[in-house]
Amino acid sequence: MNLESLTLYESGIEAITRHGAPSVAAAAVVSPEPKVQGDTFEVYRLRTPDDFHVHLRQGQSLAAYTQDVAAGFARALVMPNTLPPVATAEGLEQYRTQIDAGLGVHTPGFLPLMSFKLAPRHDAAAVASLAAAGATAGKLYPAGVTTNSEDGVQSIESIFPALDAMQEHGIVLCIHGEAPDAFCLERETAFLSKLETIVARFPRLRVVLEHLSTADAVRAVRDLPSRVAATITVHHLLLTLDDLIGGELRPHHFCKPVVKTPADRAMLREAVLNGEPKFFFGSDSAPHTREHKECDCGCAGLYTAPVALPLLAEFFEQHVGPGTAVGTGTGAGGGHAVGGGNGHSSDHGNGNGHGSGEGAAVEFGSGGQVRRPEWIEAMEAFVSRYGAQFYQLPLNSGHVRLERQPWTVPAEYHGVVPFCAGEELQFRVIREDERS
Ligand code: DOR
Ligand code: ZN
Repeated sequence: MNLESLTLYESGIEAITRHGAPSVAAAAVVSPEPKVQGDTFEVYRLRTPDDFHVHLRQGQSLAAYTQDVAAGFARALVMPNTLPPVATAEGLEQYRTQIDAGLGVHTPGFLPLMSFKLAPRHDAAAVASLAAAGATAGKLYPAGVTTNSEDGVQSIESIFPALDAMQEHGIVLCIHGEAPDAFCLERETAFLSKLETIVARFPRLRVVLEHLSTADAVRAVRDLPSRVAATITVHHLLLTLDDLIGGELRPHHFCKPVVKTPADRAMLREAVLNGEPKFFFGSDSAPHTREHKECDCGCAGLYTAPVALPLLAEFFEQHVGPGTAVGTGTGAGGGHAVGGGNGHSSDHGNGNGHGSGEGAAVEFGSGGQVRRPEWIEAMEAFVSRYGAQFYQLPLNSGHVRLERQPWTVPAEYHGVVPFCAGEELQFRVIREDERS
């Protein structure tokens, strides 16, 4: 690869330090420092990923949060739980304009995929105008279930006219699938019957159950038709309840749905490591300032945008074992057995697999080439392929570089404590693709 032809983007934090305010600053990137001449390190190439669930907020912080996402992702599905919510065609267009304005001149190409917050007032005409405005998804928040959902849906029947219209317009239904009145650890399981009702009643509606946290939800999604899929976050893949309350209270590990048991996490890992196309990446990166997390009534949400890809790289490298049989060069591949190290294993191939049809793509700074490893194939399927396929979007044409160069996660990004603050991560992520 001709390194000189690369466009290397700076980290948001570095860019802000060096250039000032985020609205005029360079792109946010996960990998802080430029390559040092003469350094030797491994480099992997990955098709530029998508994040099918992010919170970009509004106002002053929007630009910085957007740049952090754009540092690693070419597209992201933007959640509508702002105040006021994104709920009309005009509101959606305004929000998209604000996001675009926040990208800054040095940000790599980034396409926000817009969603709106479902309400009973969304009749056929309202949904038609949202479709015309380019809505990708409508989000169902049961009332009171999470941040800014007090005005959420009281009964799913009340939004049936909207779902009918969404089905006609090909708008995806995204669901925060928790029943707010159930015991907190049982809320996701308690919601599943409602998911099944919706899926049965609207036979052409595409549905995404967001941020899965339980084994029950994995099983339910598997059992439903292929038009039903799910996002999985990096924090639900890595944490259990012990990481939140098992020792001292860790407010920066608090989110909704709350992280669950080791058995639940094992099932999420299995779905991802099996390469099942129904399960794809949505970070649910949800920034709240330190003050709003470290207080009496702390907000739910982990800020994972700056660390998600490095963490996923470590996760896939660790768990996709060398014995993993993954298709290469065919675009199809076969099912594979999950490698060890995580306390579980699986032989559920499901006929899936991670073959991408791309050639060898691992390089070393000192020269030389080796075969593209299985874990890169597996990661690419999860972050760059399955979600795009479900949303019927073309795959991104650009790439990111994963460089094995340890870095320490800053204590704060724009007043927000990120997931893994202060910890050393092994991979830096740099977008190579063209600015749009
Ligand atoms: O932890 C969460 N934070 N879960 C959600 O569903 C919403 C999000 C937020 O907006 O803060
Ligand atoms: Zn969310």
